Amino acid sequence: MNENWTPASWRAKPAKHMPADYPDLEALTRVEQTLRGMPPLVFAGEARRLKGLLADVSEGRAFLLQGGDCAESFKEFAADNIRDTFRLILQMAVVLTFAGGKPVVKVGRMAGQFAKPRSAATETIGDQTLPSYRGDIINGMEFTPEARTPDPQRLIQAYSQSASTLNLLRAFAGGGYADLHNVHRWTLGFVADSPQGARYREMAEKISETLMFMEAIGVTPESQPALHQVEFFTSHEALLLNLEEAMTRVDSTSGQWYDTSAHLVWIGERTRDLGGAHVEFFRGIKNPIGVKCGPTMEADDILRLAEVLSPSNEAGRLTLYGRFGHDKIDKRLPGLLRATKAAGLKVVWAIDPMHGNTLTADNGYKTRPFERILSEVKSFVEICKAEGMHPGGVHLEMTGQNVTECTGGARQVSEGDLADRYHTHCDPRLNSEQALELAFLVAEKLKVERGDAAARAAAI
Ligand code: PEP
Ligand code: CO
Repeated sequence: MNENWTPASWRAKPAKHMPADYPDLEALTRVEQTLRGMPPLVFAGEARRLKGLLADVSEGRAFLLQGGDCAESFKEFAADNIRDTFRLILQMAVVLTFAGGKPVVKVGRMAGQFAKPRSAATETIGDQTLPSYRGDIINGMEFTPEARTPDPQRLIQAYSQSASTLNLLRAFAGGGYADLHNVHRWTLGFVADSPQGARYREMAEKISETLMFMEAIGVTPESQPALHQVEFFTSHEALLLNLEEAMTRVDSTSGQWYDTSAHLVWIGERTRDLGGAHVEFFRGIKNPIGVKCGPTMEADDILRLAEVLSPSNEAGRLTLYGRFGHDKIDKRLPGLLRATKAAGLKVVWAIDPMHGNTLTADNGYKTRPFERILSEVKSFVEICKAEGMHPGGVHLEMTGQNVTECTGGARQVSEGDLADRYHTHCDPRLNSEQALELAFLVAEKLKVERGDAAARAAAI
């Protein structure tokens, strides 16, 4: 099946969006060698577990919530930032589970989301032109020739930051912090006094009452460990294949190759060509994987990609993330859904409502209007429903921090507010209030779908 594949076979194919200008290639090779000797970040068995949960999503029994920074950075690396995004995901998952009535599979864009594809290879300020910033794993954001030169040592720093991040995430997920009894405490300071905060408190109250009732009848964290901990997985765009190759190992249990840099890895919109290095690398690893589907993706492209990336059509292997834009999804998504359905593909369809809705404000800031993000998610749920398919999940760029990067939301962040707290290293993220608001709206939408489905079932 994986004929002629090795973790290095991508090297013979054209590799887009990877730096070709490392000044010292021997230094890069030495770094790759060092990484090959480092412990895996995740285990194959965990990746298989996530694949099983995504199989549930593909069959309509669960919902995927995936989110985190557009780009993690060395500068913003801090325990508080990791905790805040983690608890935001917990809060959103509770909202979605409570209203949507389905288990939520929680996946962070965390612990490895460092490399970025850029539309322009260079950036010009005044009369100086320098290579574009490509994420902290490759070069620095500062606009100087030194910072913008790719440095292989950054791969080691990214590995080390990913390891520490994962260590903390594992502790948060399993060490009691994520205990459902803490549902009240997950509210972030600045969200507490917002309308979303009030709504969340109301729901948390109902959950607490339910927990008390359950305890009274003997359902306790001791008898039900799920009340005391959560399963949490990591993901990133596997763009810098030098690192991904070095982290790819044979799993001793199954004898199969797994990329141990994250549980799930995805191929970006700009690197999904069939003959390219990224598709070549991905076809040989057994992790659950994703592919971004932008407005130029055709049904045939998906079918050919699925043949190469998921030849045995294993449920949970392939997640497709639509990212068309609020004004294009109506035209693009239905045909793609029909094609995958007609071909019997067991894929998860999810929506990334961020990357098709970016614009530049008059003051030069790159932003995303919240109404457009929301509108693409709503269209996604409605179109899936019209096509008789499961709206499998959402993939978001968001942070637990109180940033002002996307306009709109309940607090009406305006273009003039963007300068206040614009901290992203790449694309604009939802702040926690906007993300929670989105979760409530998605939950409502799913509830309507659920109600309709129940009504249909009752009518039969
Ligand atoms: C991303 O997810 O950060 C990204 C670059 O997305 P896309 O490949 O869909 O543009
Ligand atoms: Co992005």
